[in-house]
Amino acid sequence: MPGYRDSLGFKFLQATKHDRLELFRRERENIAPAPWFKVYPEAPKVPLPKPSFGAENFWKALIERRSIRKYTRQALSLDEISLLCFAAQGITAQAERYLLRTAPSAGALYPVETYLFVNRALDLTPGIYHLEVQDFVLEELAQGEFGQALAEASLSQYMCAKAPLVFVWSVIPRRTMSKYGSRGVRYIFMDVAHICQNVLLAATAMGLGACPIGAFFDDEVNQILELDGEEETVVYMASVGYPAE
Ligand SMILES: Cc1cc2nc3c(=O)[nH]c(=O)nc-3n(C[C@H](O)[C@H](O)[C@H](O)COP(=O)(O)O)c2cc1C
Repeated sequence: MPGYRDSLGFKFLQATKHDRLELFRRERENIAPAPWFKVYPEAPKVPLPKPSFGAENFWKALIERRSIRKYTRQALSLDEISLLCFAAQGITAQAERYLLRTAPSAGALYPVETYLFVNRALDLTPGIYHLEVQDFVLEELAQGEFGQALAEASLSQYMCAKAPLVFVWSVIPRRTMSKYGSRGVRYIFMDVAHICQNVLLAATAMGLGACPIGAFFDDEVNQILELDGEEETVVYMASVGYPAE
């Protein structure tokens, strides 16, 4: 069994360190980029309502955020889903070709894609949706109940079936790695963590509860989303709903 120094993680961390002497001399990895945006042109579109912001207290949300794993049966409204999507990847400014968002991203390269597993929502059929960030619409990928399949793919974490909504985040590594090489892998995980934390804090501020989820069988979740697991692969999830007492 490999110890810390023999582990893949250790080698990755050491090999991807920036070094003042090596930075400009190191042989660059030649990684072709990927398109900046993903769209499902054939998918039916569900426009998200313009986010309606309340006067929630940021510090209160920070103090009150906890990982909540038990939810009531209450469905989420489309307004609530819109606010959560905005927290995740809402566009807030444009700088030249870059569409800047609520969460920061290394090099403004935005490697993360957002999918929603909707189990119970008002005005939204249960199913799987992709957030199309440029137009702020949901693209319907499949209708039906996928909560149970997601729970089983998530090491039997049944909150994925019981929560009204589960966010699933994938990454397209080429977007970031074409500029930063293997070091970009560090940034990709930072990017997705920023997005997830925005959603967790927004959920708390809205009186909802959420739980980040890192334990899942990657390729089983990829399979549900029909992702190849190489050019695009799932990295993080979060369940959201009204907290049960
Ligand atoms: C990267 C990451 C992965 C996590 N994965 C899971 C998970 O798969 N299932 C779960 O129930 N909680 C998961 N959590 C939540 C942690 O258990 C939780 O954040 C921790 O116990 C601290 O509690 P708090 O979030 O209420 O402050 C994860 C948290 C992080 C940051």
